[in-house]
Amino acid sequence: QAVGKGGGRAFGFQPIAPVPADVDEVTVPAGFRWHPVIRWGDPLFDPADVFDPERQTAEKQARQFGYNNDYLDIIVEPNGKRAVLVANQEYTNFGIMFPPARSEEERLEQLRVTKAAHGMAVVELERRHRGEPWTYVVGGRRNRRITADTPMALDGPAAGSDLLRTVEDPTGRWVRGTLGNCAGGTTPWGTVLSGEENFNGYFRSAGTSASERRYGLSPSESSYGWEAVDPRFDARRPGYENEPNRFGWIVEVDPDHPDEPPVKHTALGRMKHEGANVIVGRTGHVAAYMGDDERFDYLYKFVSKDTFRSGKSAKARAHNKTLLSAGSLYVARFSGDSPIEEITGTGALPSDGKFDGTGEWVPLMIDGASAVPGFTVEEVLVHTRLAADAVGATKMDRCEDVEPNPRTGRVYVACTNNTARGTGSNEGATEANPRNDNRDGHVIEITEAGGDARATTFGWSILLLCGDPATNAYTYFAGFPADRVSPISCPDNVAFDSAGDLWISTDGAPGTIGYNDGLFRVPLEGPERGRVQQFLSVPREAETCGPVIHDTDGSVFVAVQHPGEDGSWDAQHSFFPDYVTPGSLAGGKWGGPRPAVIQVTRA
Ligand code: FEO
Ligand code: CA
Ligand code: CA
Ligand code: CA
Repeated sequence: QAVGKGGGRAFGFQPIAPVPADVDEVTVPAGFRWHPVIRWGDPLFDPADVFDPERQTAEKQARQFGYNNDYLDIIVEPNGKRAVLVANQEYTNFGIMFPPARSEEERLEQLRVTKAAHGMAVVELERRHRGEPWTYVVGGRRNRRITADTPMALDGPAAGSDLLRTVEDPTGRWVRGTLGNCAGGTTPWGTVLSGEENFNGYFRSAGTSASERRYGLSPSESSYGWEAVDPRFDARRPGYENEPNRFGWIVEVDPDHPDEPPVKHTALGRMKHEGANVIVGRTGHVAAYMGDDERFDYLYKFVSKDTFRSGKSAKARAHNKTLLSAGSLYVARFSGDSPIEEITGTGALPSDGKFDGTGEWVPLMIDGASAVPGFTVEEVLVHTRLAADAVGATKMDRCEDVEPNPRTGRVYVACTNNTARGTGSNEGATEANPRNDNRDGHVIEITEAGGDARATTFGWSILLLCGDPATNAYTYFAGFPADRVSPISCPDNVAFDSAGDLWISTDGAPGTIGYNDGLFRVPLEGPERGRVQQFLSVPREAETCGPVIHDTDGSVFVAVQHPGEDGSWDAQHSFFPDYVTPGSLAGGKWGGPRPAVIQVTRA
């Protein structure tokens, strides 16, 4: 086990073999074990709120860990014995969470439960000694649930805009709740950012304006059915037309201040936000990198007007919490440097040996003023996709997590897949998105000009063209021999370890390469650059989220999302993580799937 700088790996392990889809197990390397830290339904405030899927109420769910955990961080205190876990709870799988309702009133209460199972959770963890597994603390001081009803503030240049006012909030400055919380990032000042992603699925709307159509808002019944229990989710109703404009933002939560309302930052634009990751640049300004996760949508960067203040004082933290409220917003335009026929042709590498080139950060807003002709600043921020269309941004293959490497400042963009590229009238392959029918996705590495997070130009190259090299001739692993890597498909969330190696979790591999999703490490420097190795595999029909790599502490954490999601109440497909008799409920364990955060440690 090498611990080192440069090419040294932080964490030694023997990679696992890929696990066939439909195996309902967590697989970890030899010499490691896993255990759940917290599961859907675990009580946060009072042990009396015991989990019972047949007797859930919205009130109880709002005091329990929510469903479908995605973004995860574990922020450890200096003594190493206390930590705070922050997780997103992205969405719900109605059909496997509850028995079929026996009455209309029961069905409506189940809908209210799903609202309460959305949002975020903040939970304290403890352990007696460093290196031991963590346990969560019922009733911890900072424990908090944020749901689809928690009041939160809108701030930044669009706050108070007519576009954000409703009959419930004539000021356009306060919203109830957050939803579709997918990935995120922890800021250098210790707060957590959460991306509101597929918000359109929660609304019924007129669906007539250019903006509504561009964001996928339509008059059909919503996917979640909440309009039956909360009128604001039917945006066709007078006074609620703007309610969908109040979702699709980056939300900042301070885990140390459980009574402080979360903040939706309008300066970072409105889109199907995957997440946001912040780095302090060498001038002290901060940059937030963000993906809009939809086929042919864009990559964005926000740069703060003000600079970061270091130090642990309350004053510094309060100042840093204003950094995402004012600044400039950009969208990426990529240019390739190889002839396009070499990209769209055989599938071999272009003649310069790389998919690479240069790029521009095209301004949408500069210091709070619109940079897009014909758009006010409020329109740029609320209808950000339309503003980015107008400036000719580069259509990407679904940007998921976008994260700067804290050791090098280089930025890694997970493009998860895009099976529509090159089909029908859709745009075909480009050097930055070089595969038609891109089932397996790719990862782009960006180097800002001059190493400056404020730069308006950058260089880029493709790090990985994912896939199973055994069955796909068109893969690329930064030049590392393809017969010596683990097959990987649909990169989604990313993280870094203490040596600067990249860790990638996946979402969608069962449908593409026939293996369960997993977690992979890939070195970025030295002779092993591009060597993808699989660390773990999640159970049947689950997506691997988080991840959090505490290699100096011997731990890896992942959030296991939507295990067994294609099952039904009577025919569950997963029994993760309790693995007890199907349907049984005893001693806090349930014979059905429960999205959960797990910790992997050395055995
Ligand atoms: Fe919720 Fe883009 O994944
Ligand atoms: Ca090239
Ligand atoms: Ca994701
Ligand atoms: Ca995904």
